[in-house]
Amino acid sequence: MSLPHIHAREADVPDRYDLPPGFRWGAATAAYQIEGAVAEDGRGPSVWDAFVARPGAVRDGHTGAVACDHYHRYPEDIELMRGLGLDGYRFSIAWPRIQPTGAGAVNPAGLAFYDRLVDALLDAGITPLPTLFHWDLPQALEDTGGWLDRDTAYRFAEYATVMADRLGDRIPTWITLNEPFVHTVFGYALGTHAPGRALMFEALPAAHHQLLGHGLAAAALHERGLGVMLSNNLTPVEPASASDADLAAAHAYDTLHNRLFTDPVLLGRYPDLSVLGVPDDIYGAVRPGDLELIHTPGLDGLGVNYYNPTRIAAPTDPGLPFDLVDIPDVPHTAFGWPVVPDGLTRLLLDLRDTYGQALPPLTITENGCSVTEETDPDQPRIDYLATHLDALAQAAAEGVDVRGYYTWSLLDNFEWAEGYHQRFGLVHVDFATQKRTPRASYTWYRDLISAHRSVRER
Ligand code: BGC
Ligand code: BGC
Repeated sequence: MSLPHIHAREADVPDRYDLPPGFRWGAATAAYQIEGAVAEDGRGPSVWDAFVARPGAVRDGHTGAVACDHYHRYPEDIELMRGLGLDGYRFSIAWPRIQPTGAGAVNPAGLAFYDRLVDALLDAGITPLPTLFHWDLPQALEDTGGWLDRDTAYRFAEYATVMADRLGDRIPTWITLNEPFVHTVFGYALGTHAPGRALMFEALPAAHHQLLGHGLAAAALHERGLGVMLSNNLTPVEPASASDADLAAAHAYDTLHNRLFTDPVLLGRYPDLSVLGVPDDIYGAVRPGDLELIHTPGLDGLGVNYYNPTRIAAPTDPGLPFDLVDIPDVPHTAFGWPVVPDGLTRLLLDLRDTYGQALPPLTITENGCSVTEETDPDQPRIDYLATHLDALAQAAAEGVDVRGYYTWSLLDNFEWAEGYHQRFGLVHVDFATQKRTPRASYTWYRDLISAHRSVRER
């Protein structure tokens, strides 16, 4: 398969973007995707360890058992970050390393790993930006219902408190959840990710309980004087035509993908879920007072994970309120995702228009491009990053308050159901030898960061 060529301006010449002073440059990863060492130092099993063992669940039976072996090689990885000149590094903490069964006793060796990681980041001059939950729920909690069980929200807040008490002296801002939309829909509605449940709309109590967990954790973090963010996967939704049926389908999809995960946190209410055929109380999950718990702590920043827009048509299958259709006539990444940089501008402007004063400052907490084959000099990824940074700068020029950009990802890593086939890294990883090789996009990003820094320091 050959890589699509994404045409951009001369992206091999690092440029500067017109971005606000203090804009932060970063890169992102997640625990199960890079750490490996799944049975070391008392880590308990997570839903992903169980899911990857199911025949056919992950392409070619790949697992995260070793991944990038970051658990042992983090000093080398931090050197790579230092070489980039990153301001910040977004990583996730594996809950099953901290509480192997998701509740009760804390595992000192698990805490010690993140202590070492955070200290080494600080020594390198890089601000740690941890995500407390990036999909690796302790399996013991899944056994009692996972996020379908309300208790999981309370267990999550306890775990967040443990982490804040241990690392809050060194980490100013925390992300509670990564992409509750993707976790709910892939993990609980479709079953293509762990925990592999296929409940369709009856998965949505898992969304509510994640949001409740976010609210409870956010309150605990705020009590300790820490900043709180939530990273949502957001997509501009385009109707396939101006027909009423396509417009209604697009509205239903926007409700599910975007509004359901952002309105409760920013506005204190759910959008009208009847467009999805879902009851207002989400099958009894929403109890009186829950929306206050979700909304009242507030957010110090909204993390935006953007990859592509979504085109929606009226359903051909009457069982669903929409159909996802391809966006033709644009390049696609190796993953088959449409490359539409101005979708990012539209998304950011829409957020401002939709939420107004209720919108906190934004940070792009993921954005990137995968390849399946190497090209010299890594041009599809450089073009993807360059055009999306243009789109970001455009939104900033139109007044959107955006404070940072964390590219996905620092390293090639375990790409969930795709195993090691999709490579998102600025750094190539040879999974047989664990050799890291910076790609041309690494050098490009390094030069871009340095061009901005020299301006900032003047
Ligand atoms: C949770 C408890 C929590 C209580 C607070 C319950 O749903 O399971 O852990 O203390 O709510 O109201
Ligand atoms: C997730 C990452 C994932 C990336 C690319 C996001 O949905 O947060 O874990 O690797 O997209 O698929």
